[in-house]
Amino acid sequence: ASIKLIPERSKKISDKLVGIFFEDISYAADGGLYAELVQNRGFEYALSDKSGNDPSWNSYKAWSLNGENASFKIDSVSPIHENNKHFVVLEIAEIGAALVNEGFDGIAVKEGNRYDFSVFAKIMEPKKGKLLIRLTDENNKVIAETRTKSIATTWKKYEAVLTVNKTVDNAKLEVVPEFNGKVALDMISLFPQNTFKGRKNGLREDLAQAIADIHPKFVRFPGGCVAHGDGLHNMYRWNRTVGPLETRVPQRNIWNYHQSAGLGYFEYFQFCEDIGAEPLPVLPAGVPCQNSGTCGHGQQGGIPMAEMDEYVQEVLDLIEWANGDKNTKWGRIRAEAGHPEPFNLKYIGIGNEDLITDIFEERFTMIFNALKEKHPEIVVIGTVGPFYTGTDYEEGWDIATKLQVPMVDEHYYQPPGWFIHNQDFYDRYDRSKSKVYLGEYAAHLPGRPNNIETALSEALYMTTLERNGDIVEMSSYAPLLAKEEHINWAPDLIYFNNTEVKPTVGYYVQKLFGQNSGETYIPAEIQLSENREDIKKRVAVSVVQDNATNDVIVKLVNLLPAEVNANLDFTDINIADSEAGLTVLKGKPEDKSALPSTTKISVDSEFEYKLPGYSFSVIRIRTN
Ligand code: AHR
Repeated sequence: ASIKLIPERSKKISDKLVGIFFEDISYAADGGLYAELVQNRGFEYALSDKSGNDPSWNSYKAWSLNGENASFKIDSVSPIHENNKHFVVLEIAEIGAALVNEGFDGIAVKEGNRYDFSVFAKIMEPKKGKLLIRLTDENNKVIAETRTKSIATTWKKYEAVLTVNKTVDNAKLEVVPEFNGKVALDMISLFPQNTFKGRKNGLREDLAQAIADIHPKFVRFPGGCVAHGDGLHNMYRWNRTVGPLETRVPQRNIWNYHQSAGLGYFEYFQFCEDIGAEPLPVLPAGVPCQNSGTCGHGQQGGIPMAEMDEYVQEVLDLIEWANGDKNTKWGRIRAEAGHPEPFNLKYIGIGNEDLITDIFEERFTMIFNALKEKHPEIVVIGTVGPFYTGTDYEEGWDIATKLQVPMVDEHYYQPPGWFIHNQDFYDRYDRSKSKVYLGEYAAHLPGRPNNIETALSEALYMTTLERNGDIVEMSSYAPLLAKEEHINWAPDLIYFNNTEVKPTVGYYVQKLFGQNSGETYIPAEIQLSENREDIKKRVAVSVVQDNATNDVIVKLVNLLPAEVNANLDFTDINIADSEAGLTVLKGKPEDKSALPSTTKISVDSEFEYKLPGYSFSVIRIRTN
């Protein structure tokens, strides 16, 4: 093959092309990225919230008693906050009995590490007494121990630190009253001190780091379907997820498990800031999933029109919360949470893959017009339905065109062949219409693996996103995270359990694109010795230049089983270093565990590079 650069046809492309899609699906939030180790800390799990009639899915979930002559029950009279109604009352007739939490599939702790314990408590009998807090291993041996201060007779928060003396994957947390009597407890919490960037109420360090390593330019949250929920009662309302943890509104999420809202809007925004990514919150367009309840539990329709003004205000309030001065109503709430400076929000998504109906259009238009009028500085991203249902896509685009929505969110999960055969998808787009955020995509094979075949077809398609980076502003693979044994959807980008992070081959494709992005696209003509269309479609090249370093980055995808020998013509580029970095991801199509390897290669104004069969190569060349 010969590959010739045509620098005179270079164009500016988006500097936000690769980001991430974070949805609380497959235990991505509670039990996942959110570092809380206690399951059901607020005793708010509810039987009616769990599909499948799981009788254990109630306020007692994950809690038990260890010891004699003691009992515990759930109460809701005089709670710490009306949004957190349930708490536990522990009655002890013989000192030594413990209230035990099993964590999310156990509690994983490391020797030498410190853990922050906290609890809201009020003693009922006697008038004072302390709580012994400990962690135990699988054999009930104590591996960490501490004590609270004496508990008062009104609700107060108590904190203590545990230092662990043994690494245990399946520890339990025990709360042991050191008195005979009765005590009420709520928001029983345990966090590692070494969260990502050391944040309080923070994120699991290893998972957050794996995400940060993609160098995502934006983070979309909180979904996906979680954003619009499966009924009016179940929409993700941003303002119920900020403020003190005990005042947030927990609920069942659309994927049928509990969402504590501990990982809420403040924590999402802070994570974005910590990794240098733009926050991209997606808010419901006033309608739940498919606005006809097709997800299984939904109510018909959308927010009643009589309540829409209030809802529109809620959307506008988000901008005041994120960007407003600390003396504004919502800006003050952000400042009180520890962030006096604005977050500098630039994008808002309205709607997620909604069924495009009159109900949707009426509500979306209201929200869009209000945002346009009050906050013209914010880029609003509309939704054009799931691509595979056809009409929503077209009708969504019609609305976006009519309203001149700046950007629309497209979703498609397709077989690798679709990505291979639709490389001209965006070449054909009308440049005068809304820009595109490809918010959800992934290559799907039967059995839903994430393997070299899916990863390379995604890489191939991503070269077309770079080529069309003048209209495709953003893209994100979906979903991002999935906890083993709790998988709602596959494939995902990163699998994990309590102790391990397991990136997929598709993750390395995203990481290579994220770490090797550029703001200038340099077209390249590619000629293969074979002129067959089916062969030509399996080899792709994309060349970008990174403005910050001046590096020219060549991405080469070969989805053929055989090696392809390429002659690269760089005569019009000023190469500054004859040694370039080369990273290659390759393997058999069904390979799920290949890792990229990095070496150096010699480059010149003309040089040869052999693309291995089934491979993705990134060559990073210094230029001046
Ligand atoms: O990414 C998983 C799901 O796929 C998202 O929640 C939804 O938007 C889409 O249907």
